[in-house]
Amino acid sequence: MANVIKVTHEEDFHKVAAHIVASLVQTSPRAVLGLATGGTPVGLYRELIQIHKQGLVSFAKVKSYNLDEYAGLPTEHPASYRTFMNEHLFNHIDINLENTHVPDGQATDLDAECRLYDEMLSEAVIDLQVLGIGHNGHIGFNEPADSLNPATHVVTLLEQTREANSRYFGSVDDVPAQAITMGVGSIMKARQILLLVRGADKAEIIHRAVTGPITTQCPASLLQLHSNVTVLLDAEAGRLFQ
Ligand code: PGA
Repeated sequence: MANVIKVTHEEDFHKVAAHIVASLVQTSPRAVLGLATGGTPVGLYRELIQIHKQGLVSFAKVKSYNLDEYAGLPTEHPASYRTFMNEHLFNHIDINLENTHVPDGQATDLDAECRLYDEMLSEAVIDLQVLGIGHNGHIGFNEPADSLNPATHVVTLLEQTREANSRYFGSVDDVPAQAITMGVGSIMKARQILLLVRGADKAEIIHRAVTGPITTQCPASLLQLHSNVTVLLDAEAGRLFQ
């Protein structure tokens, strides 16, 4: 059963999330973080930068692994997840960029890149995995399906996901059709999971993921099988929780 925290005041959401991440790094300076992109964790990263600038936490020995990256998008493209991470977090803290990992979406052999990413992941247990949830229950880019791939793999993005992410591109047609994503097996191997959910439009899916049946049609529901999950909700996303 997940530990569900509902934050009443919107401004506290990012602070609570940052406190969870920063406390881990303060007590385990060599922590391995699994990181996510998207709108939801931006405030978490902003708070972490602030805590770092106050001299309260150092990321000098931290390693990070990101969940996913678009296939075929140049690394320096403004909407690539490598660019997102550099701009929203890495460029503003003392993390060694060589210790940050994002799948290489422009690798010529994407399957080989997936195998390489999995090899790296097998050598580094993720202490804390930060996750968001898609409107369809996806985690990373593990989209609802009859079966899920446990390993890092290439996915074809669902139209709904491309629509949701079109805000970062000129139009939905510019959103890459494919991506590389960490698989649910790697996500489930993390020692601790922090699932961040904001907004009324996520209320139903997060309620279903936490309380509904465990099904590959809602990949986030698999997190019910993990023993250390914190679900952090703002008031709107937590509307269906008592
Ligand atoms: P969002 O994305 O934070 O931009 O809502 C979450 C996700 O799709 O995993």
